Amino acid sequence: MTAQTLLRRATGLSVSRTVAERAVGQRMEQTGFTDSAAYLQALTPAEMTQLIELVVVPESWLFRDPQAFYATVELVQERWARGRATRILSIPCAGGEEPYSMAMALRDGGVPKQAFSIDAYDLSPGCIERAQAGIYGRNAFRAQDVAFRERYFTHVADDAYRIIDALREQVTFRQGNLLQFDTATYSRHYDVIFCRNLLIYFDKPTTRAAIANLSALLADDGMLLAGYAEVPSFCQNGFAPLQFRQAFALKKDTAPPAAAIQLAPLSPLPALRGVPPAPRRVAAPVAPAAVRTRPVSVPSSPPAPAAPADLLAEARLLADRGQLREAGEKCHAHLARVPEAAEAYFMLGIINELAGKMDLADDYWRRCIYLQPDHYEALCHLALLAGRNGNHTAAVTLKARAARIYQRRQATN
Ligand SMILES: C[S@@+](CC[C@H](N)C(=O)[O-])C[C@H]1O[C@@H](n2cnc3c(N)ncnc32)[C@H](O)[C@@H]1O
Repeated sequence: MTAQTLLRRATGLSVSRTVAERAVGQRMEQTGFTDSAAYLQALTPAEMTQLIELVVVPESWLFRDPQAFYATVELVQERWARGRATRILSIPCAGGEEPYSMAMALRDGGVPKQAFSIDAYDLSPGCIERAQAGIYGRNAFRAQDVAFRERYFTHVADDAYRIIDALREQVTFRQGNLLQFDTATYSRHYDVIFCRNLLIYFDKPTTRAAIANLSALLADDGMLLAGYAEVPSFCQNGFAPLQFRQAFALKKDTAPPAAAIQLAPLSPLPALRGVPPAPRRVAAPVAPAAVRTRPVSVPSSPPAPAAPADLLAEARLLADRGQLREAGEKCHAHLARVPEAAEAYFMLGIINELAGKMDLADDYWRRCIYLQPDHYEALCHLALLAGRNGNHTAAVTLKARAARIYQRRQATN
């Protein structure tokens, strides 16, 4: 077996041949082997671990994408008000930056420690060792506002800060592989799961296997926090977006079957005709009360600039005329100014559908409904596409969601 195959099987990561061979070369130098076949032949589990250390990407920092922590504080507070503690899982946790950020945000939110527990896993034993030590340099403090360093770290050396023991004790670290997790013992055990910036390194079958494990670990009413680029994969595998701005939060999709619900008729490309609808915006961020009252605790995102509505109108006209490339450019220009413009993603879906690029269309419509979960047209297009692809369960679920939105709109008109 090649080094690449061995590493892919052990980690699930889409390791390239170059990276695998470079890692083997490095370990051969350190262990005195001169022949790669002999090295691979003699590979022990301990040596495999050393090899894996060379291919993982343990990139992380404190309060990375902080809205995920705000959303979780809010959920933990709500549950605790009803007398329920919250079990949180961070996988992968890299060097502990993510679970410690969670612990800090909860403390900032005034949440008592008996209201939650945090388990954190990473494939890399080196990462777990660093996490347990809890010592961080400049790179970990990349957030806009690092006032939390004063509150929760002690300065131990030139560029080294150690997290205080009271927080360190709130996280249980273990080495573990998401793909081999004991999902039977921990079935529906966690109320909140952070799985951010891992699936981007997996191929499609591995992504599906990882999401199946996460789904087994997550309580049915639980919340999953993903990395931005990973949201579409979750939506394609049994999850639906939750409306926390920029938290990239998802829940298990348990929409009821739509047998009895009729989908409102969908005219061909409705959004490309006539005057464009005003761009719809996602709801304002719902910052947890306790975080709101302590503005120094964690950085918040700057407000989006005003929407250049004419760019989208121009995009529609160009798409109507068949100038798809130019139309796409206008949408991207719009997104550069208003990154959360669901309507621009919807348009990009339409443009790619017209160009026959159905995978891309699917991806853009999913981004659209992530940003605006009640985008009726995007849901309809996704439902039709899922049906065309033979994914009837997804089609039914999407139609049901669209139908509910249609009914709601009829009721409010
Ligand atoms: C980019 S870091 C993400 C850390 C953190 N979640 C974040 O978003 O900042 C990716 C981590 O995934 C870990 N990893 C890779 N494959 C894994 C697997 N199969 N199971 C668990 N962890 C894995 C790596 O060791 C690395 O620390």
